[in-house]
Amino acid sequence: MPHRIHKTMGQQSGRRSWAEPWKIKMVEPIKMIDHPAREKALDAAGYNTFLLRSEDVYIDLLTDSGTNAMSDRQWAGMMLGDEAYAGSRNFYHMEEAVQKYYGYKHMVPTHQGRGAEHLISQALIKPGDIIPGNMYFTTTRLHQELAGGTFVDVIVDEAHDPASLHPFKGNIDLGKLEALIERVGAGKIPYVSLAGTVNMAGGQPVSMANVKDLRVLCDRYGIRLYLDATRMAENSFFIQEREDGYQQTPIAAILKEFCSYTDGAWMSAKKDNLVNIGGWLAMNHQDLYEKASNLVVVYEGLHTYGGMAGRDMEAVAIGIEESVQDDHMRARIGQVRYLGELLTDWGIPIVEPVGGHAIFLDARRIYPHVAQDAFPAQTLAAQLYLDSGIRSMERGVVSAGRDPETGDHRYPKLELVRLTIPRRVYTQAHMDVVAESVKAVYDDRHNVKGLRMVYEPAYLRFFQARFAPIG
Ligand SMILES: Cc1ncc(COP(=O)(O)O)c(C=O)c1O
Repeated sequence: MPHRIHKTMGQQSGRRSWAEPWKIKMVEPIKMIDHPAREKALDAAGYNTFLLRSEDVYIDLLTDSGTNAMSDRQWAGMMLGDEAYAGSRNFYHMEEAVQKYYGYKHMVPTHQGRGAEHLISQALIKPGDIIPGNMYFTTTRLHQELAGGTFVDVIVDEAHDPASLHPFKGNIDLGKLEALIERVGAGKIPYVSLAGTVNMAGGQPVSMANVKDLRVLCDRYGIRLYLDATRMAENSFFIQEREDGYQQTPIAAILKEFCSYTDGAWMSAKKDNLVNIGGWLAMNHQDLYEKASNLVVVYEGLHTYGGMAGRDMEAVAIGIEESVQDDHMRARIGQVRYLGELLTDWGIPIVEPVGGHAIFLDARRIYPHVAQDAFPAQTLAAQLYLDSGIRSMERGVVSAGRDPETGDHRYPKLELVRLTIPRRVYTQAHMDVVAESVKAVYDDRHNVKGLRMVYEPAYLRFFQARFAPIG
């Protein structure tokens, strides 16, 4: 038998290999459960991957939220928690980190992102208001609606096309926004809700040119501009890579420049900021700061802890600094891209270009024979779990929920399954296992009929809805 010469991943692509800028100091064992046990677990979970027990999961790609591996510096910081009720020194570290890296004047901590969404929505939105933004996010839109507002999507059309290779599919369509402002009047728009990157569009970025133009437009009409900065460090990587004039600019500087065109931001620190829990709301305007730091006392805790322990605020402060390092971000997005490239090479439809935090499988193109009423993406996530114990998440008609006016399903153009990659957690070998399982499910696509919903909760139904197989 001829001797086979093995090749490293880099060599297979005709380049030198790269590796993560860290080594592993502690491990958490995981195990795979067999097919009959996976069938039982999925049935018990009502075919909803959110309802699976984590110990029944082999590789957990449900979310990148709070699933990050913290560094030794962050764990050491946890030991320096100042658990004072008021004025904890960790609060001041976190405030300094937000000021230094995001550039905003004031910061109010919250227990996680939706705590900050709640505060900004209650502080600024009046019943009947309109909030334009670059595609909805589930919790963001719900808080805007609960405050009496209506979210209006003004993202570029390319964002709704999973095959479009536009480099900044997260951009706001300024024409659509201006037409909306002219139609409803600037007085009805408390702020523009800009997210970088755009989660529901596949982790797609917003360009620096777009936020600059947006600032000019908002100023012309006297409208504020607030940012969902949850994955803004990842967004900054794409600007460095794709936008003219930024190739030599460090991610930290790009992040700060981008934020400088906005009036403030809300943050789920559980993503970019590399922690397991936490969030914040930051702003330049004194009036919003006063309202938010008063409201936070009602809903989260005193304005110097906002529902977080001192140790958790310390971990956020250190995580912010680590998250903007170019090496970290190259490895983070490089790993997501590695998985995406395997799948596209094998002809499996995914959202392109690959975004920052996840691979989004295009369930519409994988199961063209399954109607949207039979929940193709929910079905695909269930099939993937059955095949290998890999947990993913539906981002389609179930996540979109119902129209509060008509009560009908909202039918989003995108019907996706998200394979979300936690930061600093899995290896390249895990990505290979994931890719092979997706391929096995794809090859079996003709044998799948879809699901029906058998239980639907009132709010954010994707978290708790239950399903059963059709036929
Ligand atoms: C873009 C975006 N905004 C806001 C949130 C809400 O944050 P949290 O889950 O910390 O409440 C998330 C969480 O997934 C998110 O992805």
